[in-house]
Amino acid sequence: MIRGKFITLEGGEGVGKTTNLAFIKDYLEQHDISVVATREPGGTKLAEKLRQLLLDKKSEAISEQTELLMMFAARSQHIKHVIEPALAQGKWVLCDRFTDATYAYQGGGRNMKISVIEGLENLVQGNLRPDLTLLLDAPVEVGIERAGKRGVFDRFESEQISFFESVRRAYLLQAELYPERIKIVKANQPLADVQRAISDVIRTLLGLGGMNNAVSSGRRRSLK
Ligand code: TMP
Repeated sequence: MIRGKFITLEGGEGVGKTTNLAFIKDYLEQHDISVVATREPGGTKLAEKLRQLLLDKKSEAISEQTELLMMFAARSQHIKHVIEPALAQGKWVLCDRFTDATYAYQGGGRNMKISVIEGLENLVQGNLRPDLTLLLDAPVEVGIERAGKRGVFDRFESEQISFFESVRRAYLLQAELYPERIKIVKANQPLADVQRAISDVIRTLLGLGGMNNAVSSGRRRSLK
């Protein structure tokens, strides 16, 4: 059985992850790929409970360290019960956020030590890293405005603009550190253009080559 591929979708608040996750899932299924779509924090019963606790504004103050450990506790559960079994069965896993979000939010936003995050990443994930990460990037104000239209803000969404600026910077730094794996997609453009850019990257991963010039041949080779 050929192991499936692990794709993650990242970005700040309100960049359109949900819409584009559904788009990618459809796209892969049209190419006869069996896809498990999931999210973090969450993806198992216990991890979804941890998610609720993490997003609840009314809970007791959650320390930065507790928050970090809860993210990795949820992740550990998710990997063992959902991600690894699916990949082993040859399914592709499409995950709304993964460890780059921890580098961005807990590392960038909360200023937690990167070496500590790395240590937990190695402990919880072993060798597991995404094969491809799509980073939807937009100016912070654009995302916050979109997120605001969805209704009440959760514990993270209630943070200051400066927090989200740090999150965005940390995401872009991750993309700089791992250019082979992380592809930046500009999210503040018409949805059709966002999805054209996304499908180009996915086609490359499928070995079909890009339909337009958004992905150069050098990057195409590097994704295989
Ligand atoms: P969502 O907005 O994608 O539903 O994610 C829920 C929140 O969790 C979001 O504000 C980002 C945050 N988060 C972290 O802070 N660290 C992480 O590792 C993950 C996966 C999410």
